[in-house]
Amino acid sequence: MRPQRLLSVLLALSTLVIAPVAAGSASGPLATCGPSPDAGTLGIGDPYYPRFGNGGYDVQHYDLAIRYGPGTNHLRGVATIAAQTTQALSCFSLDLVRLNVSAITVNGDPATWSRTHHELMITPATPLGSGADLTVVVSYEGFPKGFVIPSLDAVSGFIRTADGVVVAGEPEAATAWFPVNDHPTDRASYTFAITVPNAYQVVANGVPESEDAQGNWTTHVWQAHDPMASYLATFDVGEWTIRTRVTSTGLPVIDAIDPDVLRRVRASVRREPEILSFLESKFGPYPFESAGGIFPDTRRLGFALETQTRPIYARYFFPHGDSVIVHELAHQWFGDLVSVHRWQDIWLNEGFATYAEWLWREHEGLGTPRQTSKAIWRAIPARSPFWDVVIGDPGVENLFDGAVYTRGAMTLQALRDEVGDDAFWSILHTWTQTYGFDTGSTDAFIALAEQVSGQDLGDLFDVWLFAPNRPPASAVTGSGVVSAPPVATEHAISWLRSFDRHSAP
Ligand code: TRP
Ligand code: ZN
Repeated sequence: MRPQRLLSVLLALSTLVIAPVAAGSASGPLATCGPSPDAGTLGIGDPYYPRFGNGGYDVQHYDLAIRYGPGTNHLRGVATIAAQTTQALSCFSLDLVRLNVSAITVNGDPATWSRTHHELMITPATPLGSGADLTVVVSYEGFPKGFVIPSLDAVSGFIRTADGVVVAGEPEAATAWFPVNDHPTDRASYTFAITVPNAYQVVANGVPESEDAQGNWTTHVWQAHDPMASYLATFDVGEWTIRTRVTSTGLPVIDAIDPDVLRRVRASVRREPEILSFLESKFGPYPFESAGGIFPDTRRLGFALETQTRPIYARYFFPHGDSVIVHELAHQWFGDLVSVHRWQDIWLNEGFATYAEWLWREHEGLGTPRQTSKAIWRAIPARSPFWDVVIGDPGVENLFDGAVYTRGAMTLQALRDEVGDDAFWSILHTWTQTYGFDTGSTDAFIALAEQVSGQDLGDLFDVWLFAPNRPPASAVTGSGVVSAPPVATEHAISWLRSFDRHSAP
């Protein structure tokens, strides 16, 4: 599918989509960094991305001191990583792609290391005990590059722009710019001390702390106190206008807007506090220290991403961007607060964020989520390849297929129809309370839904998440069928016309 077409599909069905980043492939036992039994593994055990993350330790905090020249794309960094071992370790690894390492210390002592394409394997001078504090300092430099999204011919991860850089990618971004335990199961807080030429501004996750000019360069410090998954970490260099508001509940909303898109994005940005309070009314209190968004000018950015506290938005979403803002802010609960346990659980992110868009449509008078769901079910013929994607285990190739978004949201509507409103909202609230600041799996979600509702939901989830075909009509009609008013149906169907045209075999 050509990018333009894919984009129109995205716009049609939910707000976004993007093709997956190339995966590794491995089976059998996880490789380790060395021969001895106390060597750490080179992957966390995610079947889709066997090399992502590492075994044997748990990071609490990344302190990233980075000097970046947008003109040359040269990056020099010192990453101070505070962790704890979860087993005795004679060696362990971090994930890092391309950049050159010049020095490493472990607990203050020089360490030795070796590299593969994705792994930085470190041997400390003295082996580490289990449950020990581990401070790793890695000095590195080089010319970061993004990851190509093959089907889109687009770059993600580290995206250079005319004005600087935008850092956004999923599932892979962090390894392009710092050594990291790159999997959502190892969540940490971050300090970003980013030094750039004086003419540039910097935005990152969390809250700004200080700016300190030294000659022609200024160091911008941002703190992300709330622990987050590594793919959600971002720093962005550009010509930002940074605007801060405080909502009626005292939440700072910090937006970084390229002046060249200000007119385009203004109306949607203005609605952020309203959207946040709408989402709070559905999902419970906003979970983090701040909110906002990053609005670059570049056409090289072809998507939006739910970077924690401060999502990044491509310019093409605007001026009709309210829905994508709903989507990315909903991810703050579903994706960021509760992260995927394995990447195959992705429908727990994208289905929920899409469902939030359907709730917002209702709020805007465009039909209930049940009407939206039914209209989509009717509009996509049973023979469409849309229904082939098994969203509970979509495979790396289909990780961000439109079905993960749309069928994911339909799954939630089917659940809601089955258990009723009270149990449905209670399931969502219990989910964020139980798995917040942690990861959640599809199995855990099903178990929790059954526990809260007291119902056996095995068939429902089998049909929606694991069957490679269109669920039967009875699966979308629920019990109290309400037929969609023409306006809502017409809306949903006009989206799907464009979807169907592009995806027909
Ligand atoms: N998670 C993003 C969203 O729906 C979309 C996305 C998928 C993405 N893959 C990506 C963004 C790769 C950037 C890079 O909000
Ligand atoms: Zn999303």
